[in-house]
Amino acid sequence: MTSHDVVIVTGANSGIGKATAHALAATGARVVLACRSIARGQAALEEILSATGSERVELMQLDLSSFASVRSFARDFLSRYDRLSCLINNAGVILRERQLSEDGYEMQFAVNHLGHFLLTRELLPLLEASAPSRVISVSSGAHKIGRVDFDDMNLERRYTIFGAYARSKLANILFTRELARRTAGSGVTANCLHPGGVGTNMGVDRDTQAGSRIMRALSLVMATPEKGAETSIYLARAPEVATVSGEYFVKKRPRKPASRALDDTCARLLWDWSERAVDSAVPDAH
Ligand SMILES: NC(=O)c1ccc[n+]([C@@H]2O[C@H](COP(=O)([O-])OP(=O)(O)OC[C@H]3O[C@@H](n4cnc5c(N)ncnc54)[C@H](OP(=O)(O)O)[C@@H]3O)[C@@H](O)[C@H]2O)c1
Repeated sequence: MTSHDVVIVTGANSGIGKATAHALAATGARVVLACRSIARGQAALEEILSATGSERVELMQLDLSSFASVRSFARDFLSRYDRLSCLINNAGVILRERQLSEDGYEMQFAVNHLGHFLLTRELLPLLEASAPSRVISVSSGAHKIGRVDFDDMNLERRYTIFGAYARSKLANILFTRELARRTAGSGVTANCLHPGGVGTNMGVDRDTQAGSRIMRALSLVMATPEKGAETSIYLARAPEVATVSGEYFVKKRPRKPASRALDDTCARLLWDWSERAVDSAVPDAH
């Protein structure tokens, strides 16, 4: 990666996203930290600037749970930059209680899938104009227990924390496959990954800090964020994957995901459903 490259990392203030942004900033690339909290983003920005000595890192506000925020971020980015080499859809949440986003969608699906779907769609013309360029989505091995039920997209009938999380991570892989199909031949590639079990702030309530003691204890046996970021960084930089698209990676190698993640009919239906969702002011399913 060179000073010519512009990279966006969502959720860049914490865990795997921060480690990814840090490593890419150290290459001299221009890195945009897309964070929902300006205060947490500013702390990460200062840390990365002082550790790398780079002057090419910027903070921009992005709340993936809100279509309006995603659109506003994309407008702002497009007005400031005429190039995008790499979009890293990294941010994610896991939530104990079922919540709805401001647009009316189940929150884990809204943040982990729909927000990134809309962000990618809004930035796709610039990615195409900047080709060769890459879209990288941080999924999870949890996708294996995920299911997409088009009759219950808001999980009204049955909500479990891990069921909802796993569905959103399955959606990341289906999205990647359909994006790869749609961008074939354009010079834009789309790949996704499982980062491993990583000690981060995943599952920690940002207001009450509930869950932080468990995560601190688990961190002792889990990989560091720097280790967890390795596959994202590899997919962003490695010349040998410059033309690879539609794949799921684990430990920097392509890996066959669960069979539900290979269902290309489901991937197309999910793409169409997601387009209707982000384009409609009033959601068609609650
Ligand atoms: N840790 C693991 O073992 C593991 C395993 C498999 C996959 N993953 C995936 O790795 C990715 C990174 O997670 P992590 O483990 O590094 O967790 P993390 O430390 O909790 O980081 C998550 C990031 O996402 C951001 N985020 C959450 N909601 C957002 C929203 N509405 N809009 C914008 N940003 C939002 C968070 O911002 P705030 O700080 O403001 O909340 C934070 O920067 C996630 O996609 C996760 O699903 C992690």
